[in-house]
Amino acid sequence: MSGAMPLDDAVQILPAQASSVAADVDALFYAILAACVIVCLILFVLIWRFSLKYWHSRDADREAHEPQGFRLEFAWTVIPLLVFIGFFVWGARLYLKIEVPPPDALQVHALARQWMWKFEHPGGQREINTLHVPLGRPVTVTLISQDVIHSFFVPAFRIKQDVLPNRYTRIWFEAIEPGRFRLFCAEFCGTSHAGMRGEVIVMPPAEYQAWLASSAPAESLVARGQRMFRSAGCSGCHDPRSTVHAPDLHGIFGRTVQLRGGATAVADEAYLRDSMLLPDSRVTAGFAPLMPSFAGQLDEGEITAIIAYIKSLDAGDSE
Ligand code: CUA
Repeated sequence: MSGAMPLDDAVQILPAQASSVAADVDALFYAILAACVIVCLILFVLIWRFSLKYWHSRDADREAHEPQGFRLEFAWTVIPLLVFIGFFVWGARLYLKIEVPPPDALQVHALARQWMWKFEHPGGQREINTLHVPLGRPVTVTLISQDVIHSFFVPAFRIKQDVLPNRYTRIWFEAIEPGRFRLFCAEFCGTSHAGMRGEVIVMPPAEYQAWLASSAPAESLVARGQRMFRSAGCSGCHDPRSTVHAPDLHGIFGRTVQLRGGATAVADEAYLRDSMLLPDSRVTAGFAPLMPSFAGQLDEGEITAIIAYIKSLDAGDSE
């Protein structure tokens, strides 16, 4: 079905509301628009009325008046204040909903580069400029750029997130409508910025499972990470049986790590990435800064795979 279905191209003010937050975003947008229109109308009516009333040839009372508008001034100060605070609270709540992914979300990795989008699923399925996702299930996309700043923008989902070099960002969505939805790069990133487009294909869960099975590669992301972990030489020192004394990585993901100098760090994706590329920046307490940097030796896809492998290492087992 997804192959034949047309993109959401109908001419309309806003694209389809195809994610769980789309209707909320639109409601806020229309409320702010309505507030602007109301204020604009009030101002224009007053301008017209006073221009006509005090037209130079008109016989109007032009005497100066004693100021007596305390209540009026109070009202036009307090009412807009309350309206703006209302918009702020409304927007902040929606922002948190959009920013914090549900813990059970499906994890997808995206790599942006001039000028394409590359996606990798946990099962190792890789695609370019196309992202298949299941209907009605939260999906978190972890984003990184291989070169300049890009921006991941799916108008039908009402989500947009900058994609930065050297730093992971993430965005989540839950598609509520099957179909094909446009993906844009929304940050000018060079000559073919306008061509950096793709589509998100939302499939019913059963179809999605079938797609995953039909596109399954020989190797999952974790398996590829494990292979890289060996071939890049990480296991030479980080294997618990290794004679080189390097921190054991089992169960490290999400844990708080004690660092040399007394600081601590949470071992998230950014920390693991920094540890590979800038190993001297945050050295684990009790260890010497012996690890060489792997900057320039591992590409972003390999780093993603190694991190996925490290995440998969439970505290209990050792290979
Ligand atoms: Cu990538 Cu614009």
